[in-house]
Amino acid sequence: MEDKIFVFDTTLRDGEQVPGCQLNTVEKIEVGKSLELLGVDIIEAGFPVSSPGDFSSVVELSKAVTKPVICALTRAVENDIDVAAQALQYAKRKRIHTGIGTSYYHINYKLNSNRDEIIERAKAAVKYAKKYVEDVEFYAEDAGRTENEYLARVVEAVIAAGATVVNIPDTTGYCLPSEFGEKIKYLVENVKNIDKAVISTHCHNDLGMATANTLTGIQNGARQVEVTINGIGERAGNTSLEEVVMSLKSHKDLPFRTDIDSRRIHHTSRLVSTLMRMPVQANKAIVGRNAFAHSSGIHQDGVLKNRENYEIIDPKDVGIKESSIVLTARSGRAALNHRLEILGYKFDKKKLTEIYHDFLVLADKKKDIKDDDLKALAGKSENEESAMKLELLQVVSGKSVIPMATVQLKINNEVLKATATGNGPIDAAFSAVKQLINRKVHLEEFLIQAITRGSDDLGKVHVQIENRGTLYYGFSANTDIITASVEAFIDAVSKCCLFKNGKK
Ligand code: KIV
Ligand code: ZN
Repeated sequence: MEDKIFVFDTTLRDGEQVPGCQLNTVEKIEVGKSLELLGVDIIEAGFPVSSPGDFSSVVELSKAVTKPVICALTRAVENDIDVAAQALQYAKRKRIHTGIGTSYYHINYKLNSNRDEIIERAKAAVKYAKKYVEDVEFYAEDAGRTENEYLARVVEAVIAAGATVVNIPDTTGYCLPSEFGEKIKYLVENVKNIDKAVISTHCHNDLGMATANTLTGIQNGARQVEVTINGIGERAGNTSLEEVVMSLKSHKDLPFRTDIDSRRIHHTSRLVSTLMRMPVQANKAIVGRNAFAHSSGIHQDGVLKNRENYEIIDPKDVGIKESSIVLTARSGRAALNHRLEILGYKFDKKKLTEIYHDFLVLADKKKDIKDDDLKALAGKSENEESAMKLELLQVVSGKSVIPMATVQLKINNEVLKATATGNGPIDAAFSAVKQLINRKVHLEEFLIQAITRGSDDLGKVHVQIENRGTLYYGFSANTDIITASVEAFIDAVSKCCLFKNGKK
């Protein structure tokens, strides 16, 4: 018999606190609806007293998203709770999340108080919130650094006051997994009324332990996990939803389940990354670009023989069509042959060895081997295939003008030019490129990163497009961010659309 683990998503509250990640109400609703489809149980929609914008986002999200419980954060302050209750007025299912610091540091240096007074304030806040809603969650801020004996007193008091969920945050990301697991176990064994509430984990990733701590929390009795998409959040971030969900799903021996539809993970991750302008690191577990990409020869050969040789998760389970074999100078014959077969070529051993030799020479010069490179290597005549080149890019943008872009591409020997408008210069330039290639490509991911922080910095652009169900990746770096964006887009387009004899 599996125990259900409740997934409490705080992407829109703890995640949204990250500098530069702020969303407007429309964007929050888009993320909220996506979280609803993903199957999260609770959405922490915001901290209503913090700003009028946060207040109205909680109001609108409460109207637009009806399946999960909508939760609003407060301090243990009556006015915060009044405002949160007001913001939640339209929510079908609602929760107030109130709390106070319980560690030595917070009690002495933040709240200038003492242990007994903190317990009184905690109880009063829960009782006050109970006037408005049945479902009240209490957080003991910095519980990770709070002595277990005192933490147990706080938890017992707030449950007696009516808390339905007790949140044990490792606010500073300090705990080791064994320590955090012990803490949860201590509460289970020493709080008399613990059966009247659900224990929740809320871990931060300052030492890279957030997922491990959350999992040991579950193994020791927690039944709710507070997580964010892509692990975004204060400082080094929060526990990432996808890591916990896929850990539980992959370890069939663990008697726990969530109601998350894991096939929606990839889509939700991309949506959050794009709207929050927060790139996902390429090697991020589950959702990073390289999470299902194999580049070394030994691994590629193993994956081609049987995916499970080097993959513990079927990419389809997280919404990715297939794992990818990236052709580089480290790739082996098996991977090259596999790609050539997809492109429609079949060679005997001897010919394949010849092509493989040429491939290695080229791969040492070029980081990224494209399909048209392979076709050329496979013996096709030069003029049958050729890459696409950006010859000219001119943009008009600024305040009170309609953004417009003119793009000139050279495809084989043909020079093609188009002009388009858009909601910004990059959007306009992408539209112009789309006119020229006359193919249906869908932009899946678009990320701009500055390498350092100066305004004269080199901007890196990563683009992912989709064409007939396959994803293609493009990259460029340039001090001119618009040019880098268009080059990256063309890089991706040229991988999916091969142009023959100058015809599109
Ligand atoms: O990290 C933390 O302690 C929090 C609380 C407000 C729950 O985010
Ligand atoms: Zn937090």
